[in-house]
Amino acid sequence: MVLPEEVAARILSETVRHRASLRDTATRFFSRNPELDYMKPIVRVLTLGVARNYMLLDKVLESLGYGPPSHSTRWMLARILVYEALSDKLKPTRARKLAPRAGLDADKILELRGAEPQEFVRGLGGVEKLSVLYSFPRWMVEELLGAEIPELPRLLESLNQDPTRWIRVKPEVDIEWLRERLRGQGVEIEPDRDLPDIARIVSGDSKATRTEEYQKGLYILQDKASALVSWVARPRDSVAVDPTAGAAVKASHMAWLGARYVVAGDVKPERIREARRTLSRLAVGHIIDLVAGDARQPYLRGFDVTVVDPPCSDIGRLQYEPEVKLWLTRGDIHYFRRLQLRIVSAVVEAALPGSTIVYSVCTLTRSETIWVIRRLLERHSDVEIVEPEPVLGEKPRRLPRSQRLLPHLHKTQGFFIAKLVKL
Ligand SMILES: C[S@@+](CC[C@H](N)C(=O)[O-])C[C@H]1O[C@@H](n2cnc3c(N)ncnc32)[C@H](O)[C@@H]1O
Repeated sequence: MVLPEEVAARILSETVRHRASLRDTATRFFSRNPELDYMKPIVRVLTLGVARNYMLLDKVLESLGYGPPSHSTRWMLARILVYEALSDKLKPTRARKLAPRAGLDADKILELRGAEPQEFVRGLGGVEKLSVLYSFPRWMVEELLGAEIPELPRLLESLNQDPTRWIRVKPEVDIEWLRERLRGQGVEIEPDRDLPDIARIVSGDSKATRTEEYQKGLYILQDKASALVSWVARPRDSVAVDPTAGAAVKASHMAWLGARYVVAGDVKPERIREARRTLSRLAVGHIIDLVAGDARQPYLRGFDVTVVDPPCSDIGRLQYEPEVKLWLTRGDIHYFRRLQLRIVSAVVEAALPGSTIVYSVCTLTRSETIWVIRRLLERHSDVEIVEPEPVLGEKPRRLPRSQRLLPHLHKTQGFFIAKLVKL
């Protein structure tokens, strides 16, 4: 009989092999194996736990004489057993059954129960210690150190935890009324003090997409930092564009904030299909046109406001998708920063004089964020950086006219926002 640990190991190695998301890989697995549906909650806990702690688990395995680490299904199973042992969840019968399948000695693994992670990083210092203890590749820690993030260990710890979840509410909906309605359906929300259309989900987040009000399009799940981007863009009465619009979350927000007309573009047909679903549920299809196109070409002209939210390394979203840590490389960061610079340069070229451009990315590496904006300003003398108001985040010393939202300080995704004006 197949056990949840084995399913989790398979999903983890498949995820890394395809550089897919854990969620998509698990959905595919369980649709092929519906009889195992009852395992979903435990498999979710195990896969997230291992993805968040994989380097620490490797260190423990190495201290027992195993290795070298890999992303094979067998090694994933070994990581899972160590994870369960350290969290005091490993039963001896389970260990004896599964340890041989992972090439491990069950007794050695059972002895780990109750051990403290700190024990395994003793003797390490500086970057190496942070890297192993929080399971971030060394280059990633160096990138974040280079970005001068305040209280870096707290950021790393926080990126390994579940996210705070937020909703964005339709303008004419009274948040207190919605609060009462959702309470009756098991979802507790608390209106945000900074942004009038945002509320934090206090409890019941798994039910938040199953309420009557959600089906009616009265709110959407969106992180507060991501919602801040459209507030910074100030799209009221404007003609606005988001050339890398994905599921049109920010584009729909610009429509709700009073843009007269919005164009949402994306290079991928499947993203346009997602965007179509967003527009239909939120009933903003009469304001937004969807177009398929490559944002590296300056093909969208004549707008007052542009939000450019290009692909990035997603490090600010690790709370949602920790698996990215297992495959992301420094080479990927260099690819993303070049792509971002090309897209934002094309946007600047196409922008009307006097128009606003907001660049945002859900990452915090210095190679993206600050580097991209600095290079852009060097290359384009006809663009100026301005205060990205409202400022709810922290201002990086090397680019004080920008803001960063940080999970450990602001309870949001990690986000970088800069605002530019075309002269
Ligand atoms: C970070 S997501 C955008 C999320 C979106 N702004 C939202 O709030 O829902 C980046 C998007 O850029 C798209 N993309 C990647 N390369 C592109 C390109 N060359 N031109 C246009 N879109 C591109 C991706 O398909 C992805 O949907």
